[in-house]
Amino acid sequence: MSKKRAAQLRALINRHSELYYQQDDPEISDAEFDAYLVELRELERAHPELIVPDSPTLRPGGAASSTFASVTHDVVMLSLDNAFSNEELAAWGVRISKLVAEPIAYVGEPKLDGLAISLLYENGRLARAATRGDGVTGEDVTANVATIKSIPAKLVGKNLPTRFEVRGEVFMPLDAFAALNYRQGELGERLFANPRNAAAGSLRQKDSAVTATRELDFYAYQLGARTGGPELTSHHATLEWLQKLGFPVNSHIEQLTRITEVTEFCARVLEQRHALGYEIDGAVIKVDDLAQRAEMGTTSKAPRWAIAFKFPPEEKTSKVLEITVSIGRTGRVTPFARFDPVLVGGSTVAVATLHNEDEVARKDVRVGDTVTVRKAGDVIPEVVGPILSQRPKNARQWKFPANCPSCGTKLVRLDGESDHHCINIECPEQRVQRISYFASRPALDIEGLGEERVRQFVDAGLLVDVGDIYALDKQRLLPLERMAEKSVDNLLAAISQSKTRGLARVLVGLGVRHLGPTAAMAVARTFGSLDALVAADQETLTGIDGVGPVIAQSVAGFFALPANKKVLDKLRAAKLDLTAPKATSGAGGALDGKTFVLTGTLAHWTREQAQGEIESRGGKVTSSVSARTSYVVVGESPGSKLAKAEGLGVEILDDQSFGALLDNS
Ligand code: IVH
Repeated sequence: MSKKRAAQLRALINRHSELYYQQDDPEISDAEFDAYLVELRELERAHPELIVPDSPTLRPGGAASSTFASVTHDVVMLSLDNAFSNEELAAWGVRISKLVAEPIAYVGEPKLDGLAISLLYENGRLARAATRGDGVTGEDVTANVATIKSIPAKLVGKNLPTRFEVRGEVFMPLDAFAALNYRQGELGERLFANPRNAAAGSLRQKDSAVTATRELDFYAYQLGARTGGPELTSHHATLEWLQKLGFPVNSHIEQLTRITEVTEFCARVLEQRHALGYEIDGAVIKVDDLAQRAEMGTTSKAPRWAIAFKFPPEEKTSKVLEITVSIGRTGRVTPFARFDPVLVGGSTVAVATLHNEDEVARKDVRVGDTVTVRKAGDVIPEVVGPILSQRPKNARQWKFPANCPSCGTKLVRLDGESDHHCINIECPEQRVQRISYFASRPALDIEGLGEERVRQFVDAGLLVDVGDIYALDKQRLLPLERMAEKSVDNLLAAISQSKTRGLARVLVGLGVRHLGPTAAMAVARTFGSLDALVAADQETLTGIDGVGPVIAQSVAGFFALPANKKVLDKLRAAKLDLTAPKATSGAGGALDGKTFVLTGTLAHWTREQAQGEIESRGGKVTSSVSARTSYVVVGESPGSKLAKAEGLGVEILDDQSFGALLDNS
């Protein structure tokens, strides 16, 4: 029995390790993963004969993948042992106190939920950056790490070691993560499950230009091997020294003397967890004195002088009311669950995606089930799974629909793919999604033309493609339900107004695969007009900064399709502004080189408009504030970015001063 379970656990852990480390695409939560490991470790402790040489309990975790050159770490990058309760934490304190003569002082740090990185500096320059990999061998990701703004490329200071290694965590701040997933969604690309996977995926890009757009951040927390440099005897002094050299060090790190202070620190960090602006999944407690550390030593997997106190993820239960599918504008069919609304991780959620057929089957979620709900990466609502003891007797396994609920076409799931698609491009629901996307804020921003209204118009046969929006008139709209004279007038005025948005927004609205707002802006500004763009070949497109071969091919393919040409003809006939201010080569706009962060609601601009105004003047909008941010534009109910900007002394603009800046540039 135990033997079978141990084998089962090893297989599960290996499979989920592969998904997590190699594919950056986990299917289960960290807590579930940890639970498997704990169970296996306990089994092995009770039955040592079950331990096999390649048991996952003996590995620090991860393994290098083959895309990047491999790097052998000078000093093994160990992992951390975990404590899941105050008792386990106290037991660790007792254990290590027996290993040294003097009392122990600790340093408490938030446990950042990103990925460990090793930065090698030679003669004051970043010479190599590598992931942890399996602890012994990692991946060389120097080019990608060089794009992370908070990691110093060059160091200045007296008494620098000639060669030394700094270790720390690369992570993606929550606002950058939200912005990235928003963009992914707009592009019809897969969403990242949580900030850590987004960070890992971003660091593993083959093209470092892509990494550069991902707004990764970094905190240093350890010094590796070094040649020369100052004498350092404690961890806190090491961190102070690193900070002086220009490495970002987390501001919530504290020196602690007693184990009761340690547990209080963990409780405090847990309380602050949602206010930090980045994900943490626990606290790390380290022995401060480096000589004591050396005495305590390490096991093959982790140092004895440190422990990770892991937080439980916030979870709630709710009852599943419905499981159904939605059709996206590309025809992708996504199952999701609707459940009684619950407050979890700071907001109320009532629906959660179930991703695809295999996920539903794996979790075996059924209508009527009481399920555990939480926020994946504290952002995206997720159904963890059903509570089987509470399953109603008549609950039936959910079956993926064979046909599209909108048009009835047989759904297709290709070999090797996990998604189903409705391949009927005339599918009414795909039309609704394509058209409402065109009318949405980041695109043509047509007020009053939301999804429900688009659906009504598609059903009435008034809209087939986005070009038809501009043929809507009073005569056709007035007979429809809920379309009184006033609403019709407002809608027509909004439609008319949308004609002036310009080429970049039209390109975004057309939903050309892979062409996001930034690339659309680059393309529009390069060619200056739709006609010039349509006439361009793939090679010219690939030459544009920010446009790779994938985007170029997608854009060229889009304009070659006769059906799309017809849509463009309708837009031309409706006299939409299909031009863009042409980029002057090299130095251009008055805001060239300036970076902006927007926070809160501005009175006169939507976020997209503000971003458009800034970008059309050569400026850039990023999602997190750093010392390099030129301006933070603050609207109504700003977030934590305002405080951060104040702390860093970054110039703050309100609505009015932002307007003045735009006017003057
Ligand atoms: S120290 C030998 N400090 O947690 C000790 N690790 O579960 C090396 N982590 O691989 C790590 N925040 O990626 C340390 N403040 C922190 C950390 C931290 C996050 C990560 C790190 C490590 C993993 C172990």
